[in-house]
Amino acid sequence: MKIIKTINEIREQVSSAKSSGMRVGFVPTMGALHAGHLSLIQAAQKACDFVVVSIFVNPTQFGAGEDLDKYPRNLELDAAKCEALGVDVIFAPQVSEMYPDGFDSWVEVGGEITKVLCGRSRPGHFRGVTTVCAKLFNIVLPDAAFFGQKDAQQLAVIRKMVRDLNMPLSIEACPIVREESGLAMSSRNDYLSDIQRVDAAIIYKSLLASEELFLSGERRSSVLRSKIASMISSVDYAKIDYIEIVDPDTLMPVEIVENKALVAVAIEFGPARLIDNIILSLNNA
Ligand code: PAF
Repeated sequence: MKIIKTINEIREQVSSAKSSGMRVGFVPTMGALHAGHLSLIQAAQKACDFVVVSIFVNPTQFGAGEDLDKYPRNLELDAAKCEALGVDVIFAPQVSEMYPDGFDSWVEVGGEITKVLCGRSRPGHFRGVTTVCAKLFNIVLPDAAFFGQKDAQQLAVIRKMVRDLNMPLSIEACPIVREESGLAMSSRNDYLSDIQRVDAAIIYKSLLASEELFLSGERRSSVLRSKIASMISSVDYAKIDYIEIVDPDTLMPVEIVENKALVAVAIEFGPARLIDNIILSLNNA
C-alpha cells in the first residue's frame, strides 16, 4: 500500500488504475480511523476494484475555538489499519498541498440545508467540507465516494453539491457503526473519560425511545423531541445543542411525521460535541 502526499502522484496512480479498467472507490477521512471508517472502506472494496482513502485534517471546516489543534492525528496507526484491510492507496497531503499560498476559491452549497442543524452552531463548517470534498473529488476522480450516515447533514449537503454541480461520481451512504453501548463511533469519542463514555450511551437510547414512541403511533415531533430531551437531561452535564426532526433530504423541519423523518441530535457531552441520528420510518415497524 502506498502513502502518497502529492496531488500529481495520486493522479498518476488513479489514472493508471483507471486505464486498466478498474472502478475507483474513494473514502475521504480526517484520520483517527475507527470501525466506522473501516466499514466505509469495506463497502468501497465491495463495490470497486481500487480504493483510495484520504487522510487530511481539513483546517477550513473548523471554526475559531474548535478542536483543530487537538484533533487526533496518527498516520502510522491509520496506515496500519488501512494496510490490514488491503486499501490500495492512502492520500495524505500536507495543508500546503491542498491550500497553497494564494488559495481563495470556495465551494458553498446555498439555501437552508447548510444553515440548519450543525450549520447554526458551526457557521462556515459546511463551506469547508464542500470545498475540500470538491477538491478531493477533482484530484482523485473517483467513480464513487463513501460517506457515513452518522454525519447525516454532511451527506445531504455533499449529495446536493454533487447534484447541483453535475460532479461525475456516485455518493454512497453507509450505516452508522456503534460501540457495544450503542454510542455512535466517532474520532471525538476519544475526548471522553471512561465515565462520560458510559453516560453517552444515553444519546442512542433516547433516539431508540423516540422510535419506539413513533412506532406505537405518536406522530407529533414536539412529543418525540421532548422524550429525547428528558432522557438526555438525566445526565446533568450534557448540554443539548439541538434535537431536530427533519426531512432526510432537505433537512427542513417536520412537525408531524407521516412516513419517514430524520431525528438528528447534537449534544455537548463534556469535552466532546457528539452528533447522532436515526431514521424514523413506518418500514421499520
Ligand atoms: O467526515 C469527515 O471526516 C470530513 O468532514 C471529510 C468528509 C473527510 C471532509 O474533511
